[in-house]
Amino acid sequence: MPEADDTESRNYFADVPVENHGFHVRGANSLEWGQKNRLGRIFRKESGKTVMFAVDHGYFQGPTTGLERLDLTIPPLLDKADALMATRGAIRTSVDPAMDKAIVLRASGGPSILKELSNEQVAITLDDAIRINASALAVQMFVGGEFETQSIKNLTTLVDEGMRYGIPVMGVVAVGKELVRDARYFRLATRMGAELGAQIIKCYYTEEGFDTVVSTCPVPIVVAGGKKLPELDALIMARRSIDEGAAGVDMGRNIFQSANPRAMITAVSKVVHEGMSAEDAHELFNDLSNQ
Ligand code: 5RP
Repeated sequence: MPEADDTESRNYFADVPVENHGFHVRGANSLEWGQKNRLGRIFRKESGKTVMFAVDHGYFQGPTTGLERLDLTIPPLLDKADALMATRGAIRTSVDPAMDKAIVLRASGGPSILKELSNEQVAITLDDAIRINASALAVQMFVGGEFETQSIKNLTTLVDEGMRYGIPVMGVVAVGKELVRDARYFRLATRMGAELGAQIIKCYYTEEGFDTVVSTCPVPIVVAGGKKLPELDALIMARRSIDEGAAGVDMGRNIFQSANPRAMITAVSKVVHEGMSAEDAHELFNDLSNQ
């Protein structure tokens, strides 16, 4: 029989492989378990990446082209996405609660396209985000915009609340018409978001220097699709984004305004998760569209 306390003389773990839980999401190692668990629902462990399907446009634009009917647009595409970025109104009215995808919940809002867009406020309580089972909260950052400080305050308020309940925050870099969308601007805005506590940043791809935007931002960057492009161009943008370090895409119009949204999201997923070239993914898009 061992002594009452023989822990020092016995190697309890000699045959047990060490699992250090090194986490696959950039910058997240020091977060607590619940935050990591939620990030792990958004970013696939095998690829470290995500295909987020963005359908939150109505919160300031109303029923934009391709998103007139949330109930018809979202459900047929969900199985191809890793995460759905949407408002609570869209989720409660138009998404099956039995779906198993991560929800990135729109958490800021206020002005419509008729007004100054940077004048947003926090638009949800954490109680309601928890009721919806959000895996992350999305908040707009208007760096350089008229209400820059207010939008950054929205972000830090949600980060504080999110830390309390284990919910990560995605800072969405919103670019006003008057701002130059170059790597210098995106380095500034993405780094501000990460340093102020966002665990994910969403921004646009830049033709020049996107790799420096990624390398100077200590949390994962997901790339917004932006205006509808020809499918091949959108797939090239996705390919380049991933090759230059993005942790995925958060694409809306280039999916739901595509001639074949399901074929498009399938092709995007192949690019993001399986390293498919843009040209092969475009061929796949054409094949699926012709079936
Ligand atoms: C709204 C958003 C949108 O979700 C975002 O712009 C992504 O959609 P798209 O790919 O259509 O640009 O953050 O502010």
